[in-house]
Amino acid sequence: MIEVKNVSYAYNGNIALQNVTFSSKDEFVAVMGPNGSGKTTLIKLIMGLLESEKGEIKVFGREAKEARNLIGYMPQKDTIARHFPIRVKDIVLMGTTKRRFYTKEDIEKAKKSLEEVGLPHLWNERFSSLSQGQQQRVMFARALAKEPKLLILDEPFSAVDLPSRDKMIDILNEKRREGMEIIIVVHNINPILHEIDKVLLLNKKAIAFGSPREVLNQETLKKAYGTDIQIVVCKEGYCHPLIGDEHA
Ligand SMILES: Nc1ncnc2c1ncn2[C@@H]1O[C@H](COP(=O)(O)OP(=O)(O)OP(=O)(O)O)[C@@H](O)[C@H]1O
Ligand SMILES: [Mg+2]
Repeated sequence: MIEVKNVSYAYNGNIALQNVTFSSKDEFVAVMGPNGSGKTTLIKLIMGLLESEKGEIKVFGREAKEARNLIGYMPQKDTIARHFPIRVKDIVLMGTTKRRFYTKEDIEKAKKSLEEVGLPHLWNERFSSLSQGQQQRVMFARALAKEPKLLILDEPFSAVDLPSRDKMIDILNEKRREGMEIIIVVHNINPILHEIDKVLLLNKKAIAFGSPREVLNQETLKKAYGTDIQIVVCKEGYCHPLIGDEHA
């Protein structure tokens, strides 16, 4: 359960978010918008990593900061410290506990998550020696290992190959069925268009929020992106915008 009410945020006077309101309950929500539209800022506010100057954010009825241990987070690729001298297992284990030591269960959970993302053989590898796509999948495993109530993913597919992306989507669907709430930031919405419950179209303001059928149309996309976005196909009420390299 996430409630974002009239939230604004500025970095040194530069407005990044303006009066954003949306809420979700037990849903799979995609956030979409152009570069610099405030997607990552919004996520950081929900995580309690930034504090809103105006408005209110509640996560499972709590202040954002107090809900942090209920949230699994996969940061945007560019913000991952790629050359950090640490092993894959230590990254995934970070997801499991706040303690300084790990229990047997923590290690099992971490191994299981790495296996889920298809990379069990990298357990002992140095994180810095991995490809960018592999690093992203390890960060996904870390978020899963936390067994969070809310999973937040910031452009999780930006470097992964297509079969791995589809595997990640399968995992997300499974987590949804188990009752996990999910917020995902994507540029190309087509691969998950039929999986998500809601779309938040953002450009500093919330341009539109609702089901993909309600939100994705020429008018709202133009409002968000400031340019005509080609709609490739509309089928059974779903419009597939041509954003990213491909469409479904
Ligand atoms: N740490 C920061 N200090 C100053 N300005 C920032 C900072 N982080 C973001 N901004 C600014 O806030 C605005 C929104 O940034 P944000 O990272 O939230 O966008 P985004 O939608 O995630 O973009 P992208 O698609 O490129 O990831 C941008 O104009 C950006 O320059
Ligand atoms: Mg971002």
